Amino acid sequence: MLLTEIDHVAIAVNDLEAAVDYYRETFGCEVEHREIVERDGVEEALLKVADSYVQLLTPTRDDSTVAKYLATKGEGIHHVGYRVADCAQALESVKAHGHRVIDETPRPGSRGTTVAFVHPKTAFGTLIELVQE
Ligand code: CO
Repeated sequence: MLLTEIDHVAIAVNDLEAAVDYYRETFGCEVEHREIVERDGVEEALLKVADSYVQLLTPTRDDSTVAKYLATKGEGIHHVGYRVADCAQALESVKAHGHRVIDETPRPGSRGTTVAFVHPKTAFGTLIELVQE
């Protein structure tokens, strides 16, 4: 079993402050981490839920994939992050089984993690992020 936990569920939103307020006021969730990830053109707010996170994501520039996602699909669940002990090993398993990946090799993610994205086309329509802490 290569997946050890649901690391996060990422939700694309137009207004990050409004989404943070929604989770704080409605469910009492506090932001544990906030980060602008320049490489991906996104700002994220992580709300801890048990041992997982809700990751609210908003684009910081028009050419980010999240901006394109919002323009075509609107707000909603963008990807699921699965926690893994070894990102490279999990990514190799995806490739070894003939499935498509977005990242050929693991790369730095937010909050010091190592991540790799798996293509939704061969993953039943779900963009998967493999997250190694
Ligand atoms: Co993510």
